[in-house]
Amino acid sequence: MKICVIGIGHVGLVTSAGFAQLGHRVIGVDNDIKKIKGLMRKTVPFYEPELEKLIRENQKKGRLSFSSSIKFGVKNSEVVFICVGTPPREDGEADLSSVEKVVREVAHSLDDYRTIVEKSTVPVNTWQWIKHTVNLYNKGNTEFDVGVNPEFLREGSAVKDFLQPDRIVIGVENERAKKILLEIYKKINCPKIITNLSTAEIIKHASNSFLATKISFINSVSNLCEKVGADVVKVAQGMGYDPRIGKAFLSAGVGYGGFCFPKDLAAFIHIGEKYGYELTILKAVQKVNEEQRKILVKKVKEALWVLKDKVIGVLGLAFKPNTDDMRLAPSIYVIQMLQQEGARIKAFDPAATLEAKKILHGVKFCQDAYEAAMNSDCLVILTEWDEFKNLDLKKIKKLLKVPVIIDGRNIFDHEKMKKLGFIYKGVGKGDASIFLKK
Ligand SMILES: NC(=O)c1ccc[n+]([C@@H]2O[C@H](COP(=O)([O-])OP(=O)(O)OC[C@H]3O[C@@H](n4cnc5c(N)ncnc54)[C@H](O)[C@@H]3O)[C@@H](O)[C@H]2O)c1
Repeated sequence: MKICVIGIGHVGLVTSAGFAQLGHRVIGVDNDIKKIKGLMRKTVPFYEPELEKLIRENQKKGRLSFSSSIKFGVKNSEVVFICVGTPPREDGEADLSSVEKVVREVAHSLDDYRTIVEKSTVPVNTWQWIKHTVNLYNKGNTEFDVGVNPEFLREGSAVKDFLQPDRIVIGVENERAKKILLEIYKKINCPKIITNLSTAEIIKHASNSFLATKISFINSVSNLCEKVGADVVKVAQGMGYDPRIGKAFLSAGVGYGGFCFPKDLAAFIHIGEKYGYELTILKAVQKVNEEQRKILVKKVKEALWVLKDKVIGVLGLAFKPNTDDMRLAPSIYVIQMLQQEGARIKAFDPAATLEAKKILHGVKFCQDAYEAAMNSDCLVILTEWDEFKNLDLKKIKKLLKVPVIIDGRNIFDHEKMKKLGFIYKGVGKGDASIFLKK
């Protein structure tokens, strides 16, 4: 099929390359001319494993091209996917101005039937606004359908997630749109949930909110574990074998971040308020997540007392491993809190330094983990990159001014760290002997 994908960011670019890989002819459109020019020269604008290869292969086969013109994309396609950003506003409501702008341009460009598919994560019933706006701005009364096809890919494994998803959700109003969307995903063998448009929209917000809830739940349990001498890693294992609970998303840590969970949770809470229902449970999830960062900073203070003029080495800035995405990353909040206490920060991330430089100020960015450790009073781990798990810990100990590691991701074994002579504090690892003394 001929497909136009508008907004080729983390979702849209993977979607474009993924559809091309499935054999469709895809035009990826973005209003960021620099991004388009770069892609034409085969430069991928962000770090995502396997994506560059997929883009190059499909560009070579002539199935994937890029343009900055929505008009060109729409005129040369049968189906139009909207993948632009939906960032949070101050009050948590999703900012839909990019979606609205794109929909208006699509409406101006429609001269024949198209299926217009909403892939961006949006509040429930946004599809009605899309329909209304196309009707308003398309002078020729051209026929069209609206579809909802939320995306569940995860940054860091986005290509695999797109091509081998757990499920595909398709929201449609009629058989025609259903047939077209099923045809697009024909080659992907996974459960396909066909439903109405509002339900498809809610599925996305409910899924992300549930995952964030799991994280805040285990983080709450971890805080209790620390107080009573229990080990949250074992607790999570013990829980996770129950198939009703599942093992995923039960890693206690410094909390969730990124461009999805924080903003989608806020948007879902806002939708609830708009429709007169308070999603109390999700407000608690948000609160636990914010507290989790403060708890980590408290641990640094407990180890070093006064932070003024102390040097803190930070390992990991991206909101999770295998991405350079810094949007709403926990590292931003933790580093700013440490800086407010007067600490000086040296930081290293294997991929996110360039992005981090745009957001974090007064930070010395290092070439590797060892440089971040050198002459620091403490090392703080904020992202669980694999390469940190294989560090030469004896070397790290020698480089640090004092051997203090506060690990926000539980990447090391506590006993081993103690044996090596570190003052090591992870998440949710209570010391039973201290408890007994109390
Ligand atoms: N990032 C994720 O892991 C993820 C996963 C699932 C769903 N989502 C959702 O997908 C949507 C897109 O997220 P993202 O992370 O890809 O965002 P992004 O910011 O990486 O990309 C958005 C792109 O849209 C482009 N754009 C904005 N206005 C435009 C316009 N008027 N015309 C053409 N292009 C325009 C931007 O230049 C940018 O390239 C969001 O709603 C997000 O919540 C994201």
